[in-house]
Amino acid sequence: MSLSLQAAEHPRLHQLPQTNQLKALMTIIRDKNTTRGDFVFYSDRVIRLLVEEGLNYLPVVHKEVITPMGIPFEGVSFEGRICGVSIMRAGESMEQGLRDVCTSVRIGKVLIQRDERTAQPKLYYSKLPKDIANRWVLLLDPMLATGGSAMKCIEVLMEAGVREERILFVNLICAPEGALKMLERFPKLQIITAEIDESMDANKFILPGLGDFGDRYFGTE
Ligand code: URA
Repeated sequence: MSLSLQAAEHPRLHQLPQTNQLKALMTIIRDKNTTRGDFVFYSDRVIRLLVEEGLNYLPVVHKEVITPMGIPFEGVSFEGRICGVSIMRAGESMEQGLRDVCTSVRIGKVLIQRDERTAQPKLYYSKLPKDIANRWVLLLDPMLATGGSAMKCIEVLMEAGVREERILFVNLICAPEGALKMLERFPKLQIITAEIDESMDANKFILPGLGDFGDRYFGTE
């Protein structure tokens, strides 16, 4: 199935500005001839942009400071506390990008895999910050294909008390089908993505995509 999805049509799907810089970075990581070192370096740059964009959806409160010129400045400061949750294994590649921007941020991990018997995503492991119910969560997974693992992970977060409207799903590339399914199933979820691709193949790999992100990032091809 091939579905068209324009970020502008979906108020909760936020695509990074399609600048020439982003397009050049994405071209490098999509290129099958890119070396592993470059794949990691340029993926990290896109991840940094995504994390910075994700922070734009956090609430702020008014804050006044005095500048070195002795003049009051009416600004803002972040209100809520955050944490990251990475969906193992590929999502772990995004943890450093979050740490680079948010010092000493807490990061939980979730491992979800397809149950061979039921063909459904199954939770194998989760370790979340104890006070996660009071936090905003940046949920990290670079490739959103069918959305099966991500949706299962959101269920796990909500069972732990996280409010749906406080979940920001951050990813590099999404397939329209998976993104639409997630937005329908979770009507308060926000998705932050770099690019929206065309479709998926029979093995649920994103097309044109970039292949297996985890294998290319961690060198396990
Ligand atoms: N995961 C990947 O790494 N690549 C895809 O295309 C889909 C899921």
